[in-house]
Amino acid sequence: MSLLLKTLKDELMILKDSHLFRYLNRVDSEQSSRISIGGREYISLCSNNYLGLATHTGLKESSMEAIKNYGNSAVASRLVSGNMELHERLEEVTAEFKGTEAALVFNTGYMANAGTLQALADERDVLFSDALNHASIIDGCRLSGAKIFVYRHRNVDHLRSLLSMAAGSGYRRKIVITDGVFSMDGDIAPLPDIAGVAEEHDAFLIVDDAHATGVLGKNGKGSLEFFGLTRRDIIQMGTYSKALGSFGAYIAGPAEVRDYLINKARAFIYTTALPPSVIAASIAAIRILQEDHEMLSRLWQNTMLFREGLMGLGFNTLNSETPIIPILIGDDKGVLQFSKRLFEEGIYAVPIRPPTVPEGGCRIRTTVTASHTPSDIEFCIGIFEKVGRELKVI
Ligand SMILES: Cc1ncc(COP(=O)(O)O)c(C=O)c1O
Repeated sequence: MSLLLKTLKDELMILKDSHLFRYLNRVDSEQSSRISIGGREYISLCSNNYLGLATHTGLKESSMEAIKNYGNSAVASRLVSGNMELHERLEEVTAEFKGTEAALVFNTGYMANAGTLQALADERDVLFSDALNHASIIDGCRLSGAKIFVYRHRNVDHLRSLLSMAAGSGYRRKIVITDGVFSMDGDIAPLPDIAGVAEEHDAFLIVDDAHATGVLGKNGKGSLEFFGLTRRDIIQMGTYSKALGSFGAYIAGPAEVRDYLINKARAFIYTTALPPSVIAASIAAIRILQEDHEMLSRLWQNTMLFREGLMGLGFNTLNSETPIIPILIGDDKGVLQFSKRLFEEGIYAVPIRPPTVPEGGCRIRTTVTASHTPSDIEFCIGIFEKVGRELKVI
């Protein structure tokens, strides 16, 4: 065996021995609240399909229509010949939905964060990032080459003291970046305070609304709507792939930011544009969300029902305030066992382990959707109680 393969094999062995090996499960059905794995049906508690739109007929029909009219592929990057009427329409629809001057579509949320941070910041700049921000933000910060300060999770005083410390150091740009909804904890960033501190220090604010788009706010517009924030200068990133049931991501904000990213964001420039079918589904999803308010209220009813049920049983759901409801287990072996028992009982909810969460913070990360029925939720609470007692978690 070559030296390379031997070193890979050794490292994989270490991951297996420490219960941190990751493997792929295969879903054989469409992605709804019930999925089929290995010929058996499970209730899925781990998708980001918050509104159930991934299987919505309106999205499917829009995609098929776009394929008929425009074909399968955008065939080139946006700056070459891949910029189609659909891409620009999605950007207009997104800006209108978010109430911003402009929007720019990226192929994924990972690329939107990495590309935006790489474009806006370099060695002359300084970034302030929440300790629990998504990996794509961490990677984007590193990619930029800027000085990085990590502030304690949701701790505005710590952020303020770091901004004060950096004041007068001659940085060109200061950028504060935070998840709107934190993907592993389900809590919400204190945006009005963060925006206030950022403004005091003349810093840009970027909010990652991947899990807030279609979820937070009266109309599902995201974190800013939730808090009633209307500042023009805040840059909002969001995804079409979670609550909106499609694929891709956006940056919404001032028109200058859009123009700047088109010119500077390598993750935007050097990649083939998203295909017409995907873009058409995203447009349809926003339109459906604007017309159908039922989905959002069902999502929140289910969220309350599930979280209150789990908390009533004595599970630790951390500070979850959204449809992302973590159930803290602690150690890696325990969380694997918990997830395995849920699976045997008909629930698919994966274990989350380091490095995604801190050491000792292993959890089952559950997500509730609008397409779960109240009886699905009651069933899940019953199984969590059974498994929780059996494994002495409660
Ligand atoms: C907070 C957050 N930001 C960004 C992303 C990346 O989005 P995408 O899956 O579209 O790459 C995700 C999800 O994976 C996320 O949870």
